[in-house]
Amino acid sequence: MTMAETPVTIKVMDNGPYVVEGPITILDAQGNAFALPQGRAVALCRCGMSTTKPFCSGAHRNGFQDASRA
Ligand code: FES
Repeated sequence: MTMAETPVTIKVMDNGPYVVEGPITILDAQGNAFALPQGRAVALCRCGMSTTKPFCSGAHRNGFQDASRA
């Protein structure tokens, strides 16, 4: 499977971030790419409390609650 064929998955974590796996690029509003760890999942904040947006900083542990189901 080539990198282009590798699926991207986004997992909605209970009371936590979106965990994104696969070959992705994340751009800021000016089109600049964030540095991402190679070959590892990325956790994106969905609680709004992160100190390292758009990434999860662990601040969701201060009371964010959501356990959405598909
Ligand atoms: S989801 Fe972890 S800090 Fe927002």
